[in-house]
Amino acid sequence: MTHLTESSIWQALAKHSLQLPHMREMFAKDSQRFEAMSLSACGLFLDYSKNRATTETLELLFKLAEETELKDKICAMFAGDLINTTEQRAVLHTALRADADQEIQAEGRDIVPEVQQTLAKMEAFVDSVVSGQWRGYTGKAITDIVSIGIGGSFLGPKIISQGLRPYWNTGLACHFVANVDGTAISEKLKLLNPETTLFVMSSKSFGTQETLTNTLSAKAWFLKLGGSQSEVAKHFVAVTSNVTKATEFGIATDNIFPMWDWVGGRYSLWSAIGLPIALLVGMDNFRALLRGAHEMDEHFAKAPLRENMPVIMGLLSLWYGNFFNAQSHVVLTYDHYLRGLPAYFQQLDMESNGKSVTLDGTRVDYSTGPVIWGGEGTNGQHAYHQLLHQGTALIPADFIMPLNSHNPLGEHHAQLASNCFGQTQALMQGRTLDEAMAELAGAQLSDEEKLLIAKHKVMPGNKPSNTLLMDKLTPQTLGALIALYEHRTLVQGAIWQINSFDQWGVELGKNLGNDVLARIGAPQAATELDASSNGLINLYRQRQI
Ligand code: F6P
Repeated sequence: MTHLTESSIWQALAKHSLQLPHMREMFAKDSQRFEAMSLSACGLFLDYSKNRATTETLELLFKLAEETELKDKICAMFAGDLINTTEQRAVLHTALRADADQEIQAEGRDIVPEVQQTLAKMEAFVDSVVSGQWRGYTGKAITDIVSIGIGGSFLGPKIISQGLRPYWNTGLACHFVANVDGTAISEKLKLLNPETTLFVMSSKSFGTQETLTNTLSAKAWFLKLGGSQSEVAKHFVAVTSNVTKATEFGIATDNIFPMWDWVGGRYSLWSAIGLPIALLVGMDNFRALLRGAHEMDEHFAKAPLRENMPVIMGLLSLWYGNFFNAQSHVVLTYDHYLRGLPAYFQQLDMESNGKSVTLDGTRVDYSTGPVIWGGEGTNGQHAYHQLLHQGTALIPADFIMPLNSHNPLGEHHAQLASNCFGQTQALMQGRTLDEAMAELAGAQLSDEEKLLIAKHKVMPGNKPSNTLLMDKLTPQTLGALIALYEHRTLVQGAIWQINSFDQWGVELGKNLGNDVLARIGAPQAATELDASSNGLINLYRQRQI
């Protein structure tokens, strides 16, 4: 197609964005809006009626998707094309949850058998640890797992485990360490006994500073407290695509679970990177998580654009970013178990779509990925929701809530739901000056005072939100939910014509960090960098106590 912003569809959307009535009016005119703008798929229910969108808006957005060949790009991902062009890699996290009898080609071979073999290896390992057959160096069974990884090798295992807390059934405890700050690992190790602790080191590249350093410290702790070099194999396993480096590092070959180049770090929880999850919830539940994601893959691949949940969510988010200057998108989980999801989606989306050149290297002249942030409802209602309601920024919101709680307790869940729905309502309808004045009718104030206060109470409304519901939070619905956001990310990246699957920005930070480390430890003061960097390094060197 012609340059995106010059295309007639883009221009039509820009014009249309100026012509929309307030959402209040849209609801007043159409009593069927909820039915017309909601959708069920894979155990999830999406109400997208509280968006600044009419039928015409949606049709224009679908046309944009068609003209940017979204369907072809979706097919290309599932087919294993090298859509991560800067790294010449396929993007096949979907293969990790494919049916065992599917055939998926990558790197010139069918990759499904090795995915299945890895699942079988995970299963055998989980069984042996959980059953107590796997013994530590003094013959005791394992009680504690320490998962060491960062980025996708941390957020997926940690946040999905947290989400599946009601399904923990193995009796093991799992601790997560990511940060290179020595405090993170020290505080965990203080609580642990080396005889009964198993470390799962997760690093796709096996080259990430934080993970290597934390693993070395864990090994030193193990050796100091009684374990011997020959017993390391009983306490350290690794998940990596770099088997050579893992072996050189000292991990026994049998203790290495494979990963592949066609799985991105932030899409890797479905692989053996998910081992800590499986160690907590068991393989049956882990497989149910995969099934839920697979169902969403099928939906994404096969449903027409107009009934396609990730497509609809992706388009609506893009609508605000590109045509209403929304710079961020908030994810609000009304479920304590899902409190970590905003951080998970933050990496998924911001590392994927935080890009500013198109696939052919042209600098974009439109916004790409927004800032993703969020938190747990109702807590946020007593904090940052103020800005959502009355701040100057437009921040589209996703509200996520299971309809049934794992902990039914009196009226708690009904109250939680009423807050969730009440917030979406308040964001949509707002409060007019007349309504605010009417509320103050009985107050002992002069008319002038009433007017002044009423002005502060006005909420413009017309703030968009999606509400995503599920009957209950289960491994399967959680799998579908995560896959939904993965695909939503692809939809946006495809339309923006960027590469959602590389991460050169974070790579630069990794390299410069290593360079600075060398200068901190060098015999002479730093002089070769910019004045600020030299100054900071030298200050650090001088002030070591
Ligand atoms: O920081 C960038 C990144 O490459 C992420 O994409 C990835 O999830 C993380 O680092 C960890 O990488 P690895 O699994 O190779 O240690």
